[in-house]
Parts: sequence; structure tokens; C-alpha cells
Amino acid sequence: MLHAVVSDIHGNLEALEAVLADLERHRPASVVCLGDFVGYGASPNECIERLRPRLEAAVVGNHDLAACGKLRLGGFNHEAAMAARWTDTSLTAENREWLERLPFSAPWRGALLVHSSPLHPEEWNYVLSPADAEAEMASCEESLVLVGHSHYPGTFELDGGRARYSRTPDVRMAPGRRYLVNAGSVGQPRDGDPRAGYLLFDDRTRELRHLRVEYDVEGAMRRIREASLPAFLAERLRWGE
Ligand SMILES: [Fe+2]
Repeated sequence: MLHAVVSDIHGNLEALEAVLADLERHRPASVVCLGDFVGYGASPNECIERLRPRLEAAVVGNHDLAACGKLRLGGFNHEAAMAARWTDTSLTAENREWLERLPFSAPWRGALLVHSSPLHPEEWNYVLSPADAEAEMASCEESLVLVGHSHYPGTFELDGGRARYSRTPDVRMAPGRRYLVNAGSVGQPRDGDPRAGYLLFDDRTRELRHLRVEYDVEGAMRRIREASLPAFLAERLRWGE
């Protein structure tokens, strides 16, 4: 069965709508989200309300907790902190409560879902190198760990204790190997490709596919400016950085 993995929507409704339209074509059996529903973008409530009914499972991201006042903003840069405060005042009580109740990590169909990393999900560490992936995967049993957080789509493949990193969009999981996969970001890609990113996973063929989807970047930028959020948060969507 085919499943869709989305992450780091960051309140970008235009990007989310484009991904949901793409899902209409692929018709996955389920959709899961790896957190950071909100923060940066100007449509936090709309994104939660649009995505929530579609989700089979979800975990919380650091920007979700920051927007609920549950995470100190000391680790955030100026623009991220401003966006977190703006989101804090914008969220409905129901959406805030829903975000606050999401777990840090969740077992899902034999895989593990976590926003940042499996070892200490509440420390928001990034998995950026093979050494990071080796240490993180030693802390869990699953053969597939799905993460977001860095906004860089890619795959760490572990053969024994050794990890190898790949940016190839299509991955076939080999028997006996383990995988830590970053699903990329729907609403704020940072790999130089401004298109919305997400992941498809076929649990029968054990194939993973990183997809990119064009969306109305100008519309998302306009909404950010109209909300008086920092202009940089709009500009970076155009660059995909
Ligand atoms: Fe994020």
C-alpha cells in the first residue's frame, strides 16, 4: 500500500494545497505528518484544519510547541521568533490544544515517526551527517525512521552500523538494511528548489519516492507580507532556502 509522508508545512497553505492536489493523483492509503505544521507562514489555522482530517498519525515539531508558548524562543533566530509570537496570537484554542497533545515520536506501521531525531526527540537535534544517523539509529529498533526538521529531503541507508547518505529521489529499501529518511518540507524547502516537497512510501514494494510539486509561491509570499510577518520569510520561499 502507498502512504504519503508530509512534514514542515509551516503555515504555507498554498504549498499544502498543491501537495494535497498531487495526493489526489497518487491516492495513498494514509497520510502522516512529521510536525512543524505552523511557524513562518501566514496560514497556521487553515493548514491544521485542512490536513488534520486526512492524518492517520502525526508528531509535534519545535515550531508547533514554540507557537503554543511551550518552547523557549532562545534557540530561534529573530524572524522565527517573531513568526512564533505571531502564530501564538493567531491560533484558535482548538488548534493550539491539538498541537500541544501531539507526541514527540510515534510508532506507525512498523516505522518510527519523529520530527527531529529518535534518540532525544525533545532536544531538536538535526541528523545531517552519516555519523549523526549512525548514533541516532543505534537508539531504536525500527528499520525505517521518518524525520523532518532540516527541510533537506534525503536518505541515510545503514548497512550494519555504517550509514551512507543519498539525495536520490527514488530509493528501494534492501532487506536487512535500515533507513533514516528525511521527508523534506512542504512549506519552506531549503535545498535551493522552491517547489513543495513530500515523500511517498510503498510498504509492499518497500520503495520510497521524494516528490516535488509546483505551487503558488507568489500567493504564499503575499499572505506573509499582508500579515506583517518579516519580509525575509516571504523572500526565502522564492529561493527555496
Ligand atoms: Fe521546520
